[in-house]
Amino acid sequence: MRLLFVSSEVYPFAKTGGLADVSEALPRALANLGADVRILMPAYGCALRTVSRPQPIADLSGILGVQDARLLSARLPGSDIPVWLADAPELYQRDGLYQNSQGEDWPDNARRFAFLSHVAARIGLSALEPRWQPDVIHANDWHTGLVPLLVSAHAQRPACVFTLHNLAFQGLFPAECVAGLDLPPGSFSPDGAEYYGKISFLKAGIRFADKLTTVSPTYAREILTEEYGFGLDGLLRSRASNLTGILNGADYGIWDPTYDASLPANYDFSGLNGKKLCKATLQQELGLARNPDLPLLAFISRMTEQKMADVLLEIMPKLAQQNLQLCVLSDGDHGLEQRFREMAHAHTGTFAVRIGYQEALAHRMLAGADLLLAPARFEPCGLTQIYGMRYGTVPVVRATGGLADTVVDTSRTSISDGTATGFVFADPSVAGLWEAILRAVAFYREPLAWRRLQLNDMKQDFGWHRSANAYLSLYQSLTADLPAVTSGVAVVAGSKPEPATEKATA
Ligand code: ADP
Ligand code: GLC
Repeated sequence: MRLLFVSSEVYPFAKTGGLADVSEALPRALANLGADVRILMPAYGCALRTVSRPQPIADLSGILGVQDARLLSARLPGSDIPVWLADAPELYQRDGLYQNSQGEDWPDNARRFAFLSHVAARIGLSALEPRWQPDVIHANDWHTGLVPLLVSAHAQRPACVFTLHNLAFQGLFPAECVAGLDLPPGSFSPDGAEYYGKISFLKAGIRFADKLTTVSPTYAREILTEEYGFGLDGLLRSRASNLTGILNGADYGIWDPTYDASLPANYDFSGLNGKKLCKATLQQELGLARNPDLPLLAFISRMTEQKMADVLLEIMPKLAQQNLQLCVLSDGDHGLEQRFREMAHAHTGTFAVRIGYQEALAHRMLAGADLLLAPARFEPCGLTQIYGMRYGTVPVVRATGGLADTVVDTSRTSISDGTATGFVFADPSVAGLWEAILRAVAFYREPLAWRRLQLNDMKQDFGWHRSANAYLSLYQSLTADLPAVTSGVAVVAGSKPEPATEKATA
């Protein structure tokens, strides 16, 4: 199985959220199952600073009129998996993956991600690297939504799987952009990629992919409804027989307190002394009162309404009256950021707020906190609650999407039968979140029950193995149906392609 995995973000090269984690972990898990995987992503400045000696393997100049562009090859750290970087300095060499420092989208985002999609399609049609043609292209989110559209225009082509990580981001651009995107004739129509007079990259992916997946079974059902479909539920319902929900996993090579090098102390379920030290160190680092007995709550998240950051802010004055502490690591909405800063300023020692993106601090907070707040109005999967469990940091989540699929609510019964893993609430409101936090804090004050809950969490296994197998079966179901690509050096069914010769390392 030759697979081209295309994503705008891949950890550790570029990351703004869970897409980057999945784009690192899933290809790795697929490679472990024997797939011949290559990853394609943009050569952002941050990505080029992370790889060492990337090797040029193909010329990309001319695509969408970009003059200075090439395909570079590196490796995913600690693996042989090639990472191909589409290097076009005029498109990708800037700070901020999607936005400038004021939080405004780059005005040429349509062109930037159309370029990435054209590169993927050319690799798929073996126009760039004739020694290696994928059987399947797996594209992710709106940034790569044009890939299925571009590829579908060809009779002989690889199969296309398109994964929806978040319907809230659709890649909607004005009709004037379309002329510069070099799309097949007729693409800009209601039956194609047009969405009410604009071009929608996400719609293109949904409309033209052979198979659609999303990142949890519950979200796969939710997005067929008007409430969660973000205006695309009708189209999604028409493709429902080709849509599957496959739950994300965790890369425990990165997210496990037993080995995590970012922590002041390591620990596992056989003893939690290391976690106590992580808590004390975190309290000190963040300027919180150094008290082992106060429950420490953490919120590590994009600062958006999706994540109910506005609701958390509303209950902070009430939280300040409770005997607990809260630390926040977040960035996003500038207005909310400012209000969080003010709240922390008014309650020093009780609240600590860090605005920005800090990977190592996210690990230290996951280990040092007692409770992980992961509320959401909608959540395709959510990864922090899965990571929190492995760190013995009990999640508080809303019953939606992947949160509902990964966390089991705590009650006397679920504690004693060993199924409890967190605190789940239904209503995305101040009352809903408040009630769940109060319940969690009450349990925290019962050391034996709490310890049981923590150990149960730490033993959960959300490793990628099962879901990677599900993806592999999906790819296999597709490749039987499609004719192989025959341009470039032909690959006869059953024969092996010539090995690629690039030697780059990450
Ligand atoms: P989403 O992709 O919707 O943002 P996920 O829970 O799937 O949510 O993934 C979030 C990822 O981003 C996790 O790896 C989390 O640790 C990380 N993260 C979120 N905000 C920050 C931040 N401010 N600093 C560091 N890491 C963050
Ligand atoms: C998106 C979703 C999140 C999911 C992540 C990875 O960013 O918001 O729920 O975990 O993608 O699939």
